[in-house]
Amino acid sequence: MYCVKTIGVLTSGGDAPGMNAAIRAVVRTALFNGIQVKGIYRGYHGLMTGEIRVLQSEDVSNIIQRGGTILKTARSLEFRTEEGRKHAFETLQKENIDALVVLGGDGTFSGARQLGQEFNYPIVGVPCTIDNDLYGTDLTIGYDTALNVIMECVDRIKDTAGSHERLFLVEVMGRDAGFLALNGAIATGSEAAIVPEIATSEEQLEGLIENGFRKRKRSSLVLVSESEATGGAMGVAERLKRKGYDPHVTILGHIQRGGSPTATDRILASRIGVAAVDALLQEQRSIMVGVMNNKIVHVPFSEAIKDEKALDRRLFDVLGVLSL
Ligand code: F6P
Repeated sequence: MYCVKTIGVLTSGGDAPGMNAAIRAVVRTALFNGIQVKGIYRGYHGLMTGEIRVLQSEDVSNIIQRGGTILKTARSLEFRTEEGRKHAFETLQKENIDALVVLGGDGTFSGARQLGQEFNYPIVGVPCTIDNDLYGTDLTIGYDTALNVIMECVDRIKDTAGSHERLFLVEVMGRDAGFLALNGAIATGSEAAIVPEIATSEEQLEGLIENGFRKRKRSSLVLVSESEATGGAMGVAERLKRKGYDPHVTILGHIQRGGSPTATDRILASRIGVAAVDALLQEQRSIMVGVMNNKIVHVPFSEAIKDEKALDRRLFDVLGVLSL
């Protein structure tokens, strides 16, 4: 049994559109339940430096539509050490913070899991990453917005690719996950998606490109996940050049992480933010709050970060049939 009078909230790792909507939901749900909220700035780094302040309802006004995170974010090396986490726990005690809500991806949750285990401390996670690579939730906050940014950018590239009859390789983010590339390719009517989860041989690569050209069109678009496994768009371009093609490369980069969140991300963030505080009040700990089949679920951190969220292989069939 523990009594939560004050909760801390932080954002960590890569930012994701919808983080602000989630912070707003956490702060307002806590205040609604008579709980004080302290904002921790710059992720776990803020627990080392004590960059912490009380958040009121007005501090989260007018942020639901804003990309990025008002709490700033960072990747803290110190927090990865036992000494660093001890330091963090001391700060939490000094600030009288009884429980934490952490917003981020797998790195954020593995840090939270360790801190929770080492000090028997209650922490609940909110899945925020454009990569959509957390197990136990259909969607992560930020993914839908990033997918829509990709769609808009690729639509534009498609115009010029068609006019000049060119082959374009567009590199998208996702770290080791191909969700953005695969669904981005379907949403834009692209020829193919090269993803880290599935090795693509030279022959397959050529076949995919030729599929596009066979349709009597002289332009072709392929989405490539940035990753060591795919070699990124530059790596794929090198392979294609050796086969006599003349690919043009566009790397979308951090443009994918910015901008106003879509309605889907705002609603997801609001639902999960509310449920995260509710979970702490129900004395849940070391879990991520997700949404599966449109229902709120609690997933142990150990499961969420298992790296087991699989791409739906049937989507490659959809892509293949539609690009014939
Ligand atoms: O995890 C989110 C993400 O945007 C990945 O898709 C990408 O690989 C990585 O972060 C980039 O990180 P950084 O902004 O630190 O370069």
